[in-house]
Amino acid sequence: MCGIIGYTGGEQATPILLDGLSRLAYRGYDSVGVVVQAPKNLSSHTDLGLDGGEVSPVSVYHPLQVAKVQGKLPALQKITKQGKALRGCCGLGHTRWATHGSPTAKNAHPHLSMDGCVAVVHNGIIENHGHLREVLEREGYVFVSDTDTEVVAHLVERAYAKIDPATPLAHEKAIAEVVRCLEGNFALGILFAHTQDTLYAVACGNPLVVGQGQNVEGVATAGYVASDMAALLPYTRKIRQVERGILVKITPEHLCFYDMTDEGGELRDVTLTTKPPKDIPWDVSSADKGEYPHFMYKEIYEQPVAMASTLSPWLKKGVIDLSDIGLDKSFLSQIEQVVFVGCGSAYHAARIGKHWVETLCGLPCVAELASEFRYHPPVLLHPTKTLAVCISQSGETADTLGALRHAKAMGMPTLGILNVAGSTMAGEADHILLTHAGLEVAVATTKAYTAQLMGCIMLSLALAEAKGLLSSTQYTTLTHELCQMPTLAGEVLMNTEGIVSFAKRLKNVRDVYFIGRGLDDVTAMEGSLKLKEISYIHAEAYAAGELKHGSISLIEEGVPVVALATQPHLYPKMLSAMSEVGARGGEVFCLTNSQGEDLQRFSQVADHVLTLPATSPHLSPMLAVMPLQLLSYHTALCRGVDIDQPRHLAKSVTVE
Ligand code: G6P
Repeated sequence: MCGIIGYTGGEQATPILLDGLSRLAYRGYDSVGVVVQAPKNLSSHTDLGLDGGEVSPVSVYHPLQVAKVQGKLPALQKITKQGKALRGCCGLGHTRWATHGSPTAKNAHPHLSMDGCVAVVHNGIIENHGHLREVLEREGYVFVSDTDTEVVAHLVERAYAKIDPATPLAHEKAIAEVVRCLEGNFALGILFAHTQDTLYAVACGNPLVVGQGQNVEGVATAGYVASDMAALLPYTRKIRQVERGILVKITPEHLCFYDMTDEGGELRDVTLTTKPPKDIPWDVSSADKGEYPHFMYKEIYEQPVAMASTLSPWLKKGVIDLSDIGLDKSFLSQIEQVVFVGCGSAYHAARIGKHWVETLCGLPCVAELASEFRYHPPVLLHPTKTLAVCISQSGETADTLGALRHAKAMGMPTLGILNVAGSTMAGEADHILLTHAGLEVAVATTKAYTAQLMGCIMLSLALAEAKGLLSSTQYTTLTHELCQMPTLAGEVLMNTEGIVSFAKRLKNVRDVYFIGRGLDDVTAMEGSLKLKEISYIHAEAYAAGELKHGSISLIEEGVPVVALATQPHLYPKMLSAMSEVGARGGEVFCLTNSQGEDLQRFSQVADHVLTLPATSPHLSPMLAVMPLQLLSYHTALCRGVDIDQPRHLAKSVTVE
């Protein structure tokens, strides 16, 4: 989704903005742009020297210089001559993921006011933009884009024109007046032509962080704003989250915070009461592929460490103890029902979590797509005794955030299983169980997913323990096996030979089916999603028992079917399903943790068999998904597509 980066300081801004944009690229985008305030001595129509006609034209304004292109960052780097063509020390950059208006250069951000003195970059959606546009057009404002963003630039110009420029906080007041008439969840970066070295940033329900760079004496020399702390990794290690309704004035020396939520329209300076900066929890190398060919590949192989880091803070003397986050025995023992919500892979983690809560805790549990939950919440017997568990890597997914707010409004206690400590959900959930997967850059989630599973099993075990629902032997055995997971994950990730050759086989196929039963049904769904996401091959997952109720009609000679068999009590059923597929010419790739005679039986009916280490059937989803991640990766690699940033997809989906 869209990304914002802003810089003001003593260095040339454009190279810093371009670097920041490259760190935001992982979120997914289709056009990109920058605006830089020209130094006083620069002429008003700088010739940027376009290299050929293959990129969109650049407009230059005085003193706000804009360069934007349809497509990816290299095109912007080219027309700005790696940043050298746009000189100036204060600017904003933006990656756009189209929502209103097609992904063209004219719709790319920044957008300028008609007088060219206000530049705006924007994440999220201005829901009442249609009405505002009509009003502005009636007043004679001319729009050059199809975006909702452009209304903001014109409105700020209009509001500022009505204020005596000598009024204290004139720019801040103009912005606040505009923000009060905007509806929706959004974040803004604003640059004026007439305030040297100053950026403004507004958060209204979309994430935004600000930070400062210091010289060796610890004196602030640069100000930064970004929608994502990953963009700031090389520049500052301390950031402040901008809370909803706050406007920040950013100069190289200071960050000033103003609260715009006063009903009387007053701007309150809240700089002194704003929360102190927090350390960015990731190191710079996490945003670097290193020697790996792709982030996805790197992140797949980081799973053993991510699992161990997620588990270790909570494992105390062989017991999962979540009391530090308020999930102590007295809290957990009164929980009577659990509702998991999430989107995409996080929803699959929710489905596995549901299985664990039901089988290990014996509690009624539902797993809902976050996008459905708000509009059709499940029937709750006692909302105050129902734990809502919102699972999200980013902590920003609009649907999951909406579900979290809805659960709170229903009176449910809420827990976020989240990977980003400073995210919006982390600020709003009653309890936060952080997964320590580290920065995840590839759009297709891998390590964050298995870390979410680790979070779900820890919650289930703590809940079962608090309610006295597991025998101490069962509890000890499972906890012990859980500790083995990182080591076993390492083993699984070493065994790739069969996967690479099967991936080559999938290179040119049209459809792939994934089947499984019980927990394997959910892992099949995750495997199918991964393949779709990054290889663009049509893939479907079916509960294996359902195959004969319709979808088996799709199986014909050579159709690949990935069959999961990690649940011993369901081995015979999976053997039957695989035989049915084989009898119709389907090519079966079986993934199983069976051994001995069971393994022999699977080998007889499947065309290819890949074995997994033996583990408790409860925990097998944590391992079984890894070969499927690798299968998708290698298939996409054979097809030569963009693995880390698949088309149309975004890492963090901040619109509904
Ligand atoms: C997007 C990503 C998926 C992810 C989903 C939920 O669709 O492409 O990989 O599973 O969002 O993201 P979250 O950050 O809430 O886990």
